[in-house]
Amino acid sequence: MIIFIYFLIPTISKAIQTYFVQFGEVKTLFEVVDALEAQLIQIDDNNKIITNSQFCILSKRTLFTEGQTFQLTNYEFDPISEDSDLLIDIVIYGNSDIYGLTINNGLFHANLNTKITNLYHLNFTDDQNQLPQLIISSKHLFFVSANYAYYLDFLNLQNKGPVLNWQSKKTLYYSEIMDNYLFSVLGIDGLEIYFIDQDYQSYLLDHQSIGLLTIDFRDFSIVKIKDNNYFLYILCKINGVIIIELIISDTKILSKLLLKNIGSKTDGIALTINFNEALFVAYKTKNQYYVIQFNIEIVSRKWGSVARFNISNKIIDIDVNNQFILVQGTHTHFIIYYLDKQNAIPFQLTSVKQFVLADNNIYGTTSKYLFQFQPKIQPFQIKCFIDSDSNQIEQKYKLMYRNNQGWQQKEFKVNFNHSSLIVQKSFLLFVFLLFFIQILLCVAYRLYKNQREILTQSQILESKIRQLPQNRASKLLMPHTFRATQPNLETRINTNDFTDDNTILQKDKKIF
Ligand SMILES: *[C@@H]1O[C@H](CO)[C@@H](O)[C@H](O)[C@H]1NC(C)=O
Ligand SMILES: *[C@@H]1O[C@H](CO)[C@@H](O)[C@H](O)[C@H]1NC(C)=O
Ligand SMILES: *[C@@H]1O[C@H](CO)[C@@H](O)[C@H](O)[C@H]1NC(C)=O
Repeated sequence: MIIFIYFLIPTISKAIQTYFVQFGEVKTLFEVVDALEAQLIQIDDNNKIITNSQFCILSKRTLFTEGQTFQLTNYEFDPISEDSDLLIDIVIYGNSDIYGLTINNGLFHANLNTKITNLYHLNFTDDQNQLPQLIISSKHLFFVSANYAYYLDFLNLQNKGPVLNWQSKKTLYYSEIMDNYLFSVLGIDGLEIYFIDQDYQSYLLDHQSIGLLTIDFRDFSIVKIKDNNYFLYILCKINGVIIIELIISDTKILSKLLLKNIGSKTDGIALTINFNEALFVAYKTKNQYYVIQFNIEIVSRKWGSVARFNISNKIIDIDVNNQFILVQGTHTHFIIYYLDKQNAIPFQLTSVKQFVLADNNIYGTTSKYLFQFQPKIQPFQIKCFIDSDSNQIEQKYKLMYRNNQGWQQKEFKVNFNHSSLIVQKSFLLFVFLLFFIQILLCVAYRLYKNQREILTQSQILESKIRQLPQNRASKLLMPHTFRATQPNLETRINTNDFTDDNTILQKDKKIF
């Protein structure tokens, strides 16, 4: 028996892994790839927690990105407007072409493979009171706003013109093209469908044809069931989310209200759907923003909420793919890997006008750049660093972390010892200080330069945006950009009932 224990004890203590770290070196011991939350504590041999002088830390799970950006080129022939031209919307064509729309009717094209960019001046309207939404079909680009709509053949730029039979609307929130139909949500007037290949005959789904007393449509997603058969998921400010089935034949549309009052009735901000499986809706109540994942069984007319993701900042829009939800905020945005029911992971990007999620790529535009990137997760890491005069130290740590299976723990020892090369502490400090001062000087210079540009740019933009009606594009021109120079502008822009992030304003900067 005694012999057995004698042999057992060394095996157990050996099972605790020991890592070696040299003095003066920053070493990553290991990564905890599957951890969603984690905590690291130092313990002594009796498993008691030691609180002082811990030389290892847990570096947090963070998001990093790999991608590219394309800067909006200036007009050669119009140097005056060069500073005031801003990108406001973006669409993606195929795997490699990005089109951006500017506030001065410019079309900015970038090819991801060749890296070639072009700027075309379209000059289709002088109406600066309305910002159009840019939409793409298999053949054309559309510039759609409440009072006008234009098309452009992007393979033959000479082939362009106004959309026939476009009827002016009081409000136009958001439009999308599916097959040969252009769908637009019009608030209390309902939803309009244009038949693109039939000279833009239109059909209006209003409250009567839907069979509801009142409606106020703000956002929607379309799912194609089969040819000429669609499900429309509509975010209504009166009836929550409603689902309508559409059957379109030649020039006739049959509609059927399948479900209504899904989720909170009046608090919805935006809606998105991942194929036909999961519906995500962003909400705002008083001062809280959150996203709810719904499970909908259309056949049995049942729905239920599956998950709730609290968001600590303002939500402007949401989008989803089969991995994550992308939550667009003002400066702080979030990625939520919803399959794991994880917490939202924040990332910062200043003055994003629009995000587009395609495959696993995030595309988007800030006022001067089109960008494309892939989000990647840097998992939790254990990092150690010691800079002490003692000869040799051994510390024992306990890591507790949660993965999909629940809470796990792992103990390990770290053995810090002297390396042959000991850099003098004071020398290190000196080098660091020198480096730091250099950074400060750089930052100060850039701030000064940027500040001047911000002022002129925001003044020009502000004057343009003053009388904009409510629509998707104007929502995306972030009000806080102008708030910095003129606080009372709030009343004129539609998103101002939200309290804003408390972030410092900056001009666009290069993102990567
Ligand atoms: C745009 O069109 C208007 C007339 O519609 C014309 O007066 C103006 O010169 C054009 N601008 C450019 C840059 O082509
Ligand atoms: C989100 O917020 C609600 C309301 O404050 C709260 O009840 C809920 O526990 C929160 N959920 C998470 C996952 O933090
Ligand atoms: C010092 O670290 C090395 C690994 O770099 C290790 O092989 C050696 O045993 C350590 N020395 C002591 C005294 O622990």
